[in-house]
Amino acid sequence: MKDVIVVDNVSKVYASERGPVHALDRFSMKVGEGDFVAIVGPSGCGKTTLLWGLTGLHPNTGGKATILGKPVDKPRRDVGIIFQQANLLPWRSLIQNIRFPLEIMKEDLSKYEERIKELIESVELTGFDNHYPRELSGGMQQRASIVRALSYDPKVLLMDEPFGSLDAYTRDEMDTLLLEIWKKTKKTIAFVTHRIEEAVYLANRVYVMTPRPGSNSAEFDIDLPRPRPEGITTTKKYFDIVTEIKKRIVSDVEKQKEEGVYKSQAFSTVT
Ligand SMILES: Nc1ncnc2c1ncn2[C@@H]1O[C@H](COP(=O)(O)OP(=O)(O)OP(=O)(O)O)[C@@H](O)[C@H]1O
Ligand SMILES: [Mg+2]
Repeated sequence: MKDVIVVDNVSKVYASERGPVHALDRFSMKVGEGDFVAIVGPSGCGKTTLLWGLTGLHPNTGGKATILGKPVDKPRRDVGIIFQQANLLPWRSLIQNIRFPLEIMKEDLSKYEERIKELIESVELTGFDNHYPRELSGGMQQRASIVRALSYDPKVLLMDEPFGSLDAYTRDEMDTLLLEIWKKTKKTIAFVTHRIEEAVYLANRVYVMTPRPGSNSAEFDIDLPRPRPEGITTTKKYFDIVTEIKKRIVSDVEKQKEEGVYKSQAFSTVT
C-alpha cells in the first residue's frame, strides 16, 4: 500500500501568553492509500494539533509531514477537512455553503453540479438545497459539511471529532454513512476521536497518543470484518479490543502521574 500521509517525528510547541505549550512530541504515523486510520488519546494530548499540522494552516515546530509525497505547508485541494463544528456560513443556503470552497478556488461550478447532486443524494439531503443552516439539524449540517469537503474530490480526508457534537443515535448513523462513503470513494482517512468505540468501529488501525505532549504510545490493527456486520459492536471481540485500548490510555496516564509529568485531564474523557 502506497503511503499517502506520512507524519515523521512531528512536534509542536505553541507560544502562548503563559509560556510555551508543548503539545506534540515527535509523533509519527503512516496512512496508506485508501486506508482508514483513527487517532485516539486523552483530552488535550495534541490530536487536534496533529490534524491542524496536516492541513497546512498551523505550521509544526519540528519533524516533517507529507501528504501524497509533498510537504504540508499550505492548504491543499487534495486534502479535505471536516471538523467538529460543521462551520456552515449562516447567511448562505445549504447549496451555497457547499459551493463555497469551489468559489474560493475559482472553479467552474457547472463542472461540479452533477457530482454535488449525487453527493447530496448519498447523504440524504435532497430537497434541502435552499435551506439555511438554522433550518437544519446538527446531523444535517454535518452531512452538508461532508458534501462540501467531498465536492472537489480530495484524495485525503482529515476529520477531527466530526460527529462529537451529535446525539448518540445520529452519531452512530453518521459513522455508518461515513463507512459507506469510504467504501465507495476509497478516500484515505485520518480520523481523530476520543471515543475508543468509534475508532474501533471505523478504522483499520488505531494510533494511541500519550497524554500531552502527545507522542506515540501504541498502534492497534483492528482485525474486524469489513463491511462491519450488523451488531458487531455487541460482540466480545469488539469489546475486548475497545477495552485493551482504554486500558492502554489509562496506564499511560498513570505512568505520567507516577513520573510527576502529567499535565492533562485524561480521565474525564476515557469513557
Ligand atoms: N493556540 C494554542 N495556543 C496555546 N496552546 C494551545 C493552542 N492550541 C492548543 N493548545 C494546547 O495544546 C494542547 C493540545 O491541544 P489539542 O487541542 O491538540 O488537544 P486534543 O487532543 O485535540 O484535545 P481534545 O480531545 O480535548 O480535543 C492542549 O494543552 C492545549 O491547551
Ligand atoms: Mg481536539
